Amino acid sequence: MIGGDAKVRAMIKRFYDLMDMVPEYYVIRKLHPADLSGSRDKLSMFLSGWLGGPPLYADKYGHPMLRARHLPFAIGIAERDAWIACMARAMDGVIEDEKLRAWLGEQLFKTADWMRNKPD
Ligand code: HEM
Repeated sequence: MIGGDAKVRAMIKRFYDLMDMVPEYYVIRKLHPADLSGSRDKLSMFLSGWLGGPPLYADKYGHPMLRARHLPFAIGIAERDAWIACMARAMDGVIEDEKLRAWLGEQLFKTADWMRNKPD
């Protein structure tokens, strides 16, 4: 429905480009490595499986264990909201169907909320 691997990759490229450029997202940009190409690859591969396509991330790295992999980074409400805002903006330019965008935003919010690991 989203448009396959090319769309997912385009969306994630936009996500990290925005994270790199927009001052409001610095709160999460600073948690990431200087070179975002690894992040871009891993999130695109993860979303491929998460969205019902080929499980590229699991094939290469094993079980995602997403919450555990995020424990080294302090994630609270501000970080969650910046991640979701950045992703909503990335989706805006790539996924045309408004209902699909809204649905995906809700699912991603649940996952992002589950990643919180510090008291606010
Ligand atoms: C809640 C706010 C979030 C913050 C602040 C955050 C931040 C980070 C950081 C700093 C990394 C490590 C750098 C990197 O490898 O790119 C990372 C890795 C990753 N994140 Fe997030 N993330 C968040 C939410 C999410 C969500 C909602 C997903 C999935 C839908 C996700 C998927 C991933 C994946 C797949 C990796 C790579 C894991 C690995 O193999 O090391 N993240 N994230």
